[in-house]
Amino acid sequence: MDLKKRLIFSNAAIIVIPLGITFVASFIFMFVLARIHDVDLSYNNVKKLTQIQYEFFKAEGGLLKNSPEIILEKDFQQYITTRLESIEADIVVLKGQERVFETRKLSIIELERCLEKTGDNLFRNIVEIQGKSHMVKVIPVIFKSGEDGKILLLVPAVNDWMTTEKLFIFSGVVFVLSFIITNIVIITAFSKKVITPLGKLQAAAGKISEGNLDFEIIEDGDTQIRELCRSFEKMRLKLVEANYTQKKYDESRKMLFSSISHDLKTPITSIKGYVEGILDGVANTPQKVEKYLRTVHSKAVHMDRMIDDLLLYSRLDMHKVSFNFEKTDVLKYFEDCMYEIDIELEKSNIKVELHNNLRGKRYIMIDRDQVRRVVINIIDNSRKYMDKEQGKIDIFLREATSNVVIEIKDNGAGISESDLPYIFDRFYRADSARDTRKGSGLGLAIAKQIIEGHGGKIWAVSRMGEGTSVMISLKKYEG
Ligand SMILES: Nc1ncnc2c1ncn2[C@@H]1O[C@H](COP(=O)(O)OP(=O)(O)OP(=O)(O)O)[C@@H](O)[C@H]1O
Ligand SMILES: [Mg+2]
Repeated sequence: MDLKKRLIFSNAAIIVIPLGITFVASFIFMFVLARIHDVDLSYNNVKKLTQIQYEFFKAEGGLLKNSPEIILEKDFQQYITTRLESIEADIVVLKGQERVFETRKLSIIELERCLEKTGDNLFRNIVEIQGKSHMVKVIPVIFKSGEDGKILLLVPAVNDWMTTEKLFIFSGVVFVLSFIITNIVIITAFSKKVITPLGKLQAAAGKISEGNLDFEIIEDGDTQIRELCRSFEKMRLKLVEANYTQKKYDESRKMLFSSISHDLKTPITSIKGYVEGILDGVANTPQKVEKYLRTVHSKAVHMDRMIDDLLLYSRLDMHKVSFNFEKTDVLKYFEDCMYEIDIELEKSNIKVELHNNLRGKRYIMIDRDQVRRVVINIIDNSRKYMDKEQGKIDIFLREATSNVVIEIKDNGAGISESDLPYIFDRFYRADSARDTRKGSGLGLAIAKQIIEGHGGKIWAVSRMGEGTSVMISLKKYEG
């Protein structure tokens, strides 16, 4: 249930339910008392009784009203006394202030109280006389002598045995009891649906703050509380994930250190070996010395490149490289790139071709130098892992609705299915590459960082022995 609805319902129920119970209980109480007092309180009976009384008042009232003197006649007095006795009624006739006929002696106060009840509704004209409720009817009359008079008719009220006082006390007690019970029930429900789940959440928060995430928060309670539980559970899962990422990050940092040390150690060891060879006189001819020195130089260049790559990768990884975005014409940009790489590749017997499938002039926002580095890294791979006599690299420029897709396809060695998912990971090198070609496994990791820094995507498809396609997707610039 909605928390707001529960509050509205609870507030309403606290009043409505006790009132309803009191109403029903009072009704039952009246019936039970009626049974105890052996009074048939069925609706028909009450109606009959009141009807007889009422009709009597009306009929007799009419008669008395027209010729009030008749009451002074002995015969009529006798007749009326017997009629009134049959329904336990009484009559008092006043001529001026004087009581000229009465079947019951009323005190002055009682008489006064009766005379005050001048209304027509008999049920309201109730007067307590000697501890019993009576219905009273006061009929003003004018005697033939011209004198004013009043005829007072009295009948015991049907519910005499049921004093308002008794009913009031009973209803009061029932109301208080049902109010207390309703409150207890509502508070119990409230506690079950709101307080208990909140308590559980509090306990969960305590556990989380102690770093214990190994539990589940079960949704319970009213809508809002359930939502709160859900958010809490989401938070817990996020924390679990963050912990996991942190752990993985720590592990990968350890891996990074070991890879760096390993990859730097290899050239340093060989540099050391060649330099010792020169110092120890193993290189005993100027030709040999030059050969050793050239090897040392090439190893040093490789190390230098590797350190540059490492520095760039870690700066990209920490988002410390700020890109200098420029609006760039895609076709023109790749034509320029081609011009740069063409000569280099010709030496390796690789033919490069640019295929423009763009439907017109298309622009992208890029840091030209950084994207050039990406293209060079990819093409450098195609060159490095080329195993065909006649190498071929095709660059396709295509477009989708909102992106420009650049495909760099070679006919080289290809990448095995098991290696393909990892080639963009730092330091990842397929075993075949590790054995035969120089490299640190950072080229594609750097490319990925740069492309993602441009809000783009990079991926590869490959078939062993047939070649590799590296795809770059960048957002079109429509401005
Ligand atoms: N065109 C390709 N053909 C075949 N294998 C490739 C190709 N491109 C990448 N690879 C595989 O993916 C691995 C990762 O490539 P990446 O460019 O990141 O590293 P690298 O070339 O080994 O080293 P670096 O680029 O740092 O000199 C390579 O070692 C190689 O196994
Ligand atoms: Mg590479």
